[in-house]
Amino acid sequence: MEIITDIPSLRLRLKSEHYVVFVPTMGNLHEGHLSLIQIAKQRSGCLVASIFVNRLQFGETRDFDQYPRTLIEDFKFLENHGVDVVFAPTEKDIYPVLQEFVIEPPPLANILEGEFRPGFFSGVATLVLKLFNLVQPQLVIFGKKDYQQLCVIREMIRQLNLSIEIDEGETVRTSDGLALSSRNRFLNGEERTEAACLFQVLSKIKLEIETGNKNFEELQNTARETLISRGWDVDYIALRQGNTLAPAQINNGALVVLGAAKLGKTRLIDNLEISVEI
Ligand code: PAF
Repeated sequence: MEIITDIPSLRLRLKSEHYVVFVPTMGNLHEGHLSLIQIAKQRSGCLVASIFVNRLQFGETRDFDQYPRTLIEDFKFLENHGVDVVFAPTEKDIYPVLQEFVIEPPPLANILEGEFRPGFFSGVATLVLKLFNLVQPQLVIFGKKDYQQLCVIREMIRQLNLSIEIDEGETVRTSDGLALSSRNRFLNGEERTEAACLFQVLSKIKLEIETGNKNFEELQNTARETLISRGWDVDYIALRQGNTLAPAQINNGALVVLGAAKLGKTRLIDNLEISVEI
């Protein structure tokens, strides 16, 4: 595996590649990332992963400084799993000057995560477009764990006519259902046990709807109240149309329920797709 940290070397290395598959990450890699790499590996071509903690998507909070940086372990992880090239640039490489040109994502990016993290998707989309321009992949892999991010990137590829195919990886969970995330390491013992409850309330909504319950409002409220009564600080529990994330319609077959809530200081997000017979 080659580790490349600057843009000229990356361009030189990838110049003669005909088919590049790309998995962008912020590092602190876990089995969730591995599932994306495994999807990428099914396609023959040059497999590139990036590691870059993107200040632009963090806003004013201290989350950027607190994001776990585990570069050495991450390099080993990527090497062990057959990645060909890892691109790990510094901030100066990616943002040598103040990034004044930014992507203004569609209204899809202003709801849910966008409402609670203003500017988040603009920061993600701007960085991701820069990475696409640098790596020039034919195929990119994103995880469903960040469902709204996947929708925003898919829409950016479509509306900006990028010649890139996008594939998606299922969310990877621990045995009690908790979605893998680099944030899980901030949970203390008691919080870690409780954390699976977010998956449980979303699962209950999924089961209810798949077995005929159409009272969406009540289902969302019950889930929210359950979490609040157990000490969570809930940002949203929202039933939406798949892909567009418009409010869920009873007569639509593909729905998704998304949730975001804080347990102590740790904010967790999760989602489950729901298919309804119509
Ligand atoms: O999902 C992530 O890890 C990040 O948002 C991404 C896509 C690597 C952009 O910084």
